[in-house]
Amino acid sequence: MNIKIDGKTKVYGLLGNPIEHTKSPFIHNFLAKSLNHNQVYVPFKVAFNCLNEVIQGLYASDIQGLNVTVPFKESVIPYLKNIDEEARLIGAVNTLKRGDNGFIGYNTDVNGLYKALLSDNITINNQDVLIIGAGGAAKAATYLCAREQAKTITILNRTVKKAEDLAKSIQIIFPTISINAISIEDYYKLHNLKYLAIQTTPIGMSPKTNNIIIDDCEFYKQLHTAVDLIYKPSKTLFLQKAEENSAVISNGLKMLIFQAVLAYEIWHDINIDDKIIQSLLSTIEIGD
Ligand code: ATR
Repeated sequence: MNIKIDGKTKVYGLLGNPIEHTKSPFIHNFLAKSLNHNQVYVPFKVAFNCLNEVIQGLYASDIQGLNVTVPFKESVIPYLKNIDEEARLIGAVNTLKRGDNGFIGYNTDVNGLYKALLSDNITINNQDVLIIGAGGAAKAATYLCAREQAKTITILNRTVKKAEDLAKSIQIIFPTISINAISIEDYYKLHNLKYLAIQTTPIGMSPKTNNIIIDDCEFYKQLHTAVDLIYKPSKTLFLQKAEENSAVISNGLKMLIFQAVLAYEIWHDINIDDKIIQSLLSTIEIGD
C-alpha cells in the first residue's frame, strides 16, 4: 500500500508496549487510502514510565488521534482532558480524539465487539452468557453483555477474586442483570443450560496454538455459540472443540476491524460505508 506523505499529512497512531504485532497501521492506512484522506497511522512504542510525557508531547505535536492498547488502556485516563461516559463507566479507553486543550477518551472495544457479533447474527439479549477470563478484554465483553440484557452472565476465571471484582463492578452499573463469578476449575458445575461463551484470555493464541483454556468435551456440549476474541489463529482449539460439538463459532477478527472502524469514525465524524469494511475484511492478512 503506497501512502503519499507531504507537509499537510495528518498523523495518527497507536500507543502500546509491546506493539510489534499490531495490525492497526494496516487497517487505518487502508481506511485512509480508501477514503482519500491525507493521513498516516504509525505505532508508538511507549516506555512504561513515560505515558504522561508521551501524551502531552504528541498533543503538542498536532497528532490528530490515537489508539491505546495493552498495557495503557486504564493508566492513560488521568492524562486525558475529557472522557466519554461509557468509557468512564468501563474504566478503559482505546481511542483518543484531539480536543481543544487535550485528548478526549473513548472506548470502541465494546461496540466493536457488538458490531462483530451483530454481523455474525449472534444475539446477546436474553441469552445465558459465559465470559471466560476477567482481564481488560473480559471487562468490555461483560459490560456489553450486561448492556444488551443477557439473561445471566457467569464469569469464569483462574483467579476467582478478579472474576468477582469484575462481576461487582458491572453489577453496580447494571443492577438488574444476574452476574456471577466462578473459578474456571468449576466449569463442570455449570449445567442444564445452553450458553453463548465469549473466550477473552490469550490461551490458544499463536504461537501457542496447542493450548486450550478448558479441554473437556462435556463443557463444549453446553455451548450453542462460541466466540474467541483471538484472531490468530483464525480457529483456536477452543473454537475447534466448540464447532465439533455443534456450536456456532466466531473469532476476533471482526472485533479488531470494527473497533478500528469506530475509532476512525470518531476521529473524522463520519460513517464508513459497509463496502469499504467488507473490502478491508477480505484484504487483511493475519496468517495462522
Ligand atoms: P487482556 O487485557 O487481554 O484481557 P489481561 O488483563 O492480562 O489481558 O487478562 C488476561 C486473562 O487471561 C486473565 O483473565 C487471566 O487470568 P488471571 O486473572 O487468573 O490471571 C487469563 N489467563 C492468562 N493466562 C492464563 C492461564 N495460563 N490459565 C488461565 N487463565 C489465564
